[in-house]
Amino acid sequence: METQRKLIETTEKYIKNLLESEGTGHDWWHIDRVRTNALAIASHYPVNVFVVEMAALLHDIADHKFHDGDENIGPKKATELLTNIGVEDDEIQKIVTIIREISFSKGLVPGTLEGKIVQDADRLDALGAIGIARAFAYGGHKQRLIYHPDIPPTHYASKDEYKKSSSPTINHFYEKLLLLTDLMNTGEAKKLAAERHKFMELYLNQFFDEWKGVK
Ligand code: ADP
Ligand code: NI
Repeated sequence: METQRKLIETTEKYIKNLLESEGTGHDWWHIDRVRTNALAIASHYPVNVFVVEMAALLHDIADHKFHDGDENIGPKKATELLTNIGVEDDEIQKIVTIIREISFSKGLVPGTLEGKIVQDADRLDALGAIGIARAFAYGGHKQRLIYHPDIPPTHYASKDEYKKSSSPTINHFYEKLLLLTDLMNTGEAKKLAAERHKFMELYLNQFFDEWKGVK
């Protein structure tokens, strides 16, 4: 346990340093919240908690946004780090597989319960009060409007089409955020997501009432 603590601390330092200047919603505190969510969910299941925590810490290392579209650099970096600090081979395999599943196959259900938990934890951070804050932070970063009454939400046929879209941030709630609750893998995450989902609906009702000047 003592050595696992040390491995986690070293990984934490590495990731903090890597994401220090990241301003698109994948900053260190996103990673830290995903870890907290993941451990909270994991406490209800018989899983390898070390793998869950390490995968949560490393899950955005592979984000293609940081690597000009090369999806192998992240997993390679993670493998190097985990090997250097002395994590056991079968655990490296498990952790790196989760990183690949989460970051590159957004539509994919991870093969292990550990992976499902980390995916749920990442998705939870896009919901609720924090999800709202992140959506508007991202929208601002992309210079998007908050809302435009004449631009309705779209259903995107592909990931590329979705990425190219420049629709207002309120649309993102209907295009992605409100769809996430049904995609949760674990019962625990479903419960948490349902609360966050309700909060976003409340927020949207208030938003549109204020827009119309009725509240
Ligand atoms: P992940 O961390 O799961 O890889 P993304 O990179 O898709 O998620 O998004 C990071 C954050 O930015 C999330 O909170 C997400 O809701 C938000 N975001 C992504 N795309 C948009 C968008 N088109 N408009 C507003 N917010 C967005
Ligand atoms: Ni993430």
